[in-house]
Amino acid sequence: MSSNNTPDIRYLFEPRGVAVIGASASPEKISYKVVNNILSGGYRGKVYPINPKGGEILGLSMVRNMMEIQEPVDMACITIPAKLVLEAVKECAAIGVKFLSIITSGFSEIGNVEEEKAIASFALGHGMRVMGPNIFGIYSANASLNATFGPKSIQRGHVAIITQSGALGIGMIGKTSVANIGLSAMVSVGNKADITESDLLDYLMDDTQTEVIMLYVEGIRDGERLIANLSQVTRKKPVVMIKAGRSKRGALAAASHTGALAGSDEILNDIVKQCGVLRAESIQEAFNWCKFFTTSSSPKGENTVIITNGGGIGVIATDACEKYQVQLYDDSAVMKKIFGQSVPEFGSVKNPIDLSGQAHSQDYNASMTAALANENIHSVIGLYCETAVFDVNNLDKMIRENTLLYQKSGKPILFSIFGGEATENCILSLRQENAPVFPDVYEAVSCLGALMAQNRHLKTPPGAPVEAVLPISEINVILDKASAEGRHFLLADEAKRVMELCGVPMPKSSIARSIDEAVREAEKIGYPVVMKVVSKDILHKSDAGGVALDLDNREEVVDAYEAIHHNCREHNPRAIIEGVEVAEMVKKGTETIVGARRDASFGPIVICGMGGIYVEILKDVSFRAVPFSRQDVLSMIKETRIYPLLLGVRGEAKKDMDGVIETIIKLGSLVKNCTRISDIEVNPLVVYDQGSGVKAVDARVLIKGSEKH
Ligand code: COA
Repeated sequence: MSSNNTPDIRYLFEPRGVAVIGASASPEKISYKVVNNILSGGYRGKVYPINPKGGEILGLSMVRNMMEIQEPVDMACITIPAKLVLEAVKECAAIGVKFLSIITSGFSEIGNVEEEKAIASFALGHGMRVMGPNIFGIYSANASLNATFGPKSIQRGHVAIITQSGALGIGMIGKTSVANIGLSAMVSVGNKADITESDLLDYLMDDTQTEVIMLYVEGIRDGERLIANLSQVTRKKPVVMIKAGRSKRGALAAASHTGALAGSDEILNDIVKQCGVLRAESIQEAFNWCKFFTTSSSPKGENTVIITNGGGIGVIATDACEKYQVQLYDDSAVMKKIFGQSVPEFGSVKNPIDLSGQAHSQDYNASMTAALANENIHSVIGLYCETAVFDVNNLDKMIRENTLLYQKSGKPILFSIFGGEATENCILSLRQENAPVFPDVYEAVSCLGALMAQNRHLKTPPGAPVEAVLPISEINVILDKASAEGRHFLLADEAKRVMELCGVPMPKSSIARSIDEAVREAEKIGYPVVMKVVSKDILHKSDAGGVALDLDNREEVVDAYEAIHHNCREHNPRAIIEGVEVAEMVKKGTETIVGARRDASFGPIVICGMGGIYVEILKDVSFRAVPFSRQDVLSMIKETRIYPLLLGVRGEAKKDMDGVIETIIKLGSLVKNCTRISDIEVNPLVVYDQGSGVKAVDARVLIKGSEKH
């Protein structure tokens, strides 16, 4: 979308002058609130309220026309009705405005797509970028600029939030303030007519004020660029994402809400993980993570110890640790040495460390000091259930002091405390001071899990992108032929040829056009063989009775040839049957599915999982975006149940993992380089013992009819 003369994104976050087009002196209007927020937020640049009627607003004289402004206006907030916006944008172009923050609603979100497109294309054609429309504006701590119609006071801090939902975003401003989460930026992207999350990440990734970025996303635009940006940003700071529309109904609601297509949630989930993004389940969880990231240092390792005065809550925390992949330290000899002194005999020095119900604050202090001093322990979870022996007044002190000690030494600590009014009050007051205290154990552990995941991501260097060199022009000749015949799929022999050109082994086969030929070919290949109908008019061969397996001799080949013709004629009397494919019967092995496709949101992606006829029921598949590294492919395989099978179960030999990885690399490269291919599916890809390779039993290749290569 952007042209060469696009302005530096810095001017959006740090504009030298801001105009509010449609500034009204009526306090109930949105434009009045925007001007009021800008002025009371302490913005240091020039503010120009624009209203053709003139007059005054909050002590500022209205400017009747943009042309009257002599100094630079880097951003114009547009707060006039939709039908007037394009004209105003033209005036902005005349005085060299760089960014437009179009608050106005009434565009693509209600089907008014053309008007939105016209505005964006005019703006881009005149060197301006468009944020929105249908947004609440932007807050930028670097410029002390609150150009939103949300709450007047925004707490300054280190979390940047980019939100697609306006109402939720405005709510988040209030919520963050209550939760004592300081913001470095809050940007509403709305309909994303031009500016997307990627543009904003360009600025936020190097912004020193921003330590964590939170994204609320409904639909993805420009997914390939987003992937590249996220992969870069997550190496510098954590990115927490909430993607609404997980459920099918939710996805539909999201699509109608913002006018953007919500992609398949499974694909998004895997791809954002590939980029190192941390996906939160809820806004509350995302807030918890963001706050924890800004107050806690990174752990030096994975070993966590739970210190508790209650066995039950310790067990719950242990369950939560498994869910959020927090590793509990379990070297019992070392644990005994560390905690032997501070844990009573009737307690437990096994993780979770149980101080027992009679624990006082000194007992917590002693154990926490011991854990802090030991370099084998990298983080601590402190749990407390209210008891009569523990003076609740000391609870606050114990948590505060230990938090301080741990923060000073750079070791993460979190608490979850459970009890009556006094305990609840303790949580409230400690949270106001940003102490990592949570009412629920799962909330605490999920924060630590996010911190550990980010740490793991940073410790794993990004793998080099892998790509196979393929004879694309030869493959294009095959695609051309299919396109010329008006087909959106390749015939079996064409798909086989494409696989051969990619170096993906397929069973030996040839096409027979008579019974004699079928027998001759079968004898050449060697029994047992399989036979399949070849017809442009029959895509699902098994359903048509067009497949015969495990044919052991001449008689069976003759019978199968006749049966296939008979079944297919019954299935579709008009089908033109070009012949019958006679193929080598593939030896048994581990059946996987591998494939690649062009996703509407993310561009080329690859897929792998359990193969065979139950693929759609099992749904045991995983995805990655192209480009990917070898290690990405391996992690994709590990996410499915084929991984343990490929390692070999119950004494079986290890399977040819490399063969699977290589095939995925080839298919990914094929879809990336042949833009006309929309979908390739190899099912099953049979995997043999390590070193014995793989065999693609069936390959389906679909073509996007209209696209040129
Ligand atoms: N240049 C400057 N000012 C202009 C103008 C122009 N070309 N044309 C009109 N104006 C003035 C109007 O005269 C009015 O000023 P006044 O109060 O002194 O008469 C002011 O601009 C605002 O115009 P008005 O017609 O009163 O609009 P409004 O304030 O009722 O509504 C929007 C404007 C943009 C707020 C409204 O159309 C809208 O889209 N609301 C929804 C916003 C929203 O929810 N966004 C998404 C959030 S997540």
